Amino acid sequence: MLSKTFFTVRSAVCLTIGLFLLPSFPAIAQEPPGTLNLMPVPFKLALAGGKLRLTENFTIGALGEAVPRAKKAAARFMDRLAGRTGLFFKQDYRTDFVTSGNATFLFKYEAAGRLELNENESYALTVSPDRVMLIARTDLGILHGFETVLQLLDADAQGYFFPCVGLEDQPRFPWRGLLIDAGRHFMPVEVIKRNLDGMAAVKMNVLHWHLSEDQGFRVECKTFPLLHQLGSDGYYYTQDQISDIVAYAADRGIRVMPEFDIPGHSTSWLVGYPVLAGRPGPYRIERRWGVFDPVFNPTDEATYRFFEKFFEEMASLFPDRYVHIGGDENNGKQWDANPQIDQFKRDHKLADNHALQAYFNGRILTILSNLGKKMVGWDEIFQPGLPKDIVIQSWRGKQALIDSARKGYQGLLSNGYYIDLCQPASVHYLNDPLSPDAPLKEEEQKLVLGGEATMWSELVTPETIDSRIWPRTAAIAERLWSPSGVNDVEDMYRRLDSVAVQLEELGLTHFKNQEMMLRRLAGGADLGPLRTLVDVIEPLKQYKRQHQGVTYTQQSPLTRAVDAAAPESRTARVFRKMTDEFIKTKDPKTADALKTQLQRWRSNHQFLKSLFKNAPALSEIEPLSEDLYTVADLGIQALDAILARTAGDRTWVNESLELLQQAKKPKDQAELALVPAVEKLVQTTLLK
Ligand code: ACM
Repeated sequence: MLSKTFFTVRSAVCLTIGLFLLPSFPAIAQEPPGTLNLMPVPFKLALAGGKLRLTENFTIGALGEAVPRAKKAAARFMDRLAGRTGLFFKQDYRTDFVTSGNATFLFKYEAAGRLELNENESYALTVSPDRVMLIARTDLGILHGFETVLQLLDADAQGYFFPCVGLEDQPRFPWRGLLIDAGRHFMPVEVIKRNLDGMAAVKMNVLHWHLSEDQGFRVECKTFPLLHQLGSDGYYYTQDQISDIVAYAADRGIRVMPEFDIPGHSTSWLVGYPVLAGRPGPYRIERRWGVFDPVFNPTDEATYRFFEKFFEEMASLFPDRYVHIGGDENNGKQWDANPQIDQFKRDHKLADNHALQAYFNGRILTILSNLGKKMVGWDEIFQPGLPKDIVIQSWRGKQALIDSARKGYQGLLSNGYYIDLCQPASVHYLNDPLSPDAPLKEEEQKLVLGGEATMWSELVTPETIDSRIWPRTAAIAERLWSPSGVNDVEDMYRRLDSVAVQLEELGLTHFKNQEMMLRRLAGGADLGPLRTLVDVIEPLKQYKRQHQGVTYTQQSPLTRAVDAAAPESRTARVFRKMTDEFIKTKDPKTADALKTQLQRWRSNHQFLKSLFKNAPALSEIEPLSEDLYTVADLGIQALDAILARTAGDRTWVNESLELLQQAKKPKDQAELALVPAVEKLVQTTLLK
């Protein structure tokens, strides 16, 4: 299928190049000579040598008719290009669309892309010294091509330019999603929109919008208004807002799949409609995090009459073919405690609650199928006997994905892409939905549709959510788009640093809100030393933050230093890399750089001490500040010993490692990310 796609794109390139006498490029190399700053790395890339210089005369135009989506995307492209370069482009690129073939940047495609799974998203791009040419089967490919061109932008002493390249590009997986949980913490429209822009920038194409939870029902529902009226604290999306977001996403080539999590995770629904629950109410919106008992009664026909009407209304609000029904983490307690439900299980020979939930899923599937929708659910919904056109989203382990593919079901991987767990980008990056050793036949492999990063929102607010999504999600986007062999972690981080800055132009707040939060915490004091400390701390990983004597609820402030800290400290990563390099080479210049950094860290605590006295909200990171002093001091001593080539002192090493062990321990909610690098330095003092 892929090669057929490529044949078409390649033919289109040759045809158009022939028509417009563009310079031809050497054959596309099999192995890209470099990855430039492109993220995701394209399918095939060749550097052609030379540069297209940008001036204010740069123009954009379509060859042939352009649909509104492509025109709007072209205008946004020019806005961003102008924004980055400061060039005052002469073309009125919103109204005067150059179509005669004489624009600097020409694009052409055959048809408007449908927002459907497996739609053609490929494109081919050539940059020569006086022309950019972008060709695609659909305008979705054009949109991706625009993002690639923006990532190609480079500069030298003479100004901005695009390097001359030839590339052919297509996604490895057709489903590249980001889940945003607006249930636990509501995320206003602007949060969703700017993240849609971020997704488009890295070629993701599905927003999985988690819209109901124990803690909130987030959609205006006209048929059952008590859902949003009583289940949301007033924080819900109106239907106009939802249509606006769906259109905004469509303009960026992104499908919007709603998730209504049932039968569990459903307290907020039952506040307004307690008769539908497994046990009599009343119910209140849940404020705590975790797994709770409230669940729909799957044995009552009223439940299905409710869902028939509910999904009928939602089906027209969300045009995507797919509807996610959740299905996760039903603890079954209410079902066990209800004698009528127990009787129903016996009457229908349903062996246990899994079988009962499968019955429920089957009924919901019928409702969705009658509405022309396909059903997606978390891996708990996987029960033999369900029709083969449902999609299983694997969150508990990769095995569920493999098992379901072997049984002929389509699947998505989210296990390993839980960005709420604050793991390094590299962990997600190396998590391949289809690793080479996956025990799947070719036909089964095709059932693996891709994956989704999941931004669960227990510990994020609109202020911090971007910092948990970006830039790490760009690494996941690359895993889902680029060929499997693109897996050089160092090169990924190099490009991620560059993409992270570009993402800010879309209004994403992953960097800038940190500064704002620290300013607030410091109450106007000089931010330098606080920034130095927060720069090297990371929030605890996995679910550890929830188990440090703090009970988080929906009302807990997420405004502390640990919330301002990035999930993965770039400073600590760069320091680790420099340390490794020094240990290998003993290069004096690297040693100098390390020492300067360590000295800065060692002196930081003395500057912060007075701030801690006057900013009580910061006192919890005081132990980390003290640790930074200790760790930096040991690092300097180790560095000096290595440089002086003094004989290793085992007692000092053991004592130091003990101190570092203490410093490694989580302090409150966060940890110091550079301890492992200093441990290595200390251990190196023993080596000759
Ligand atoms: C899930 O994380 N409960 C899908």
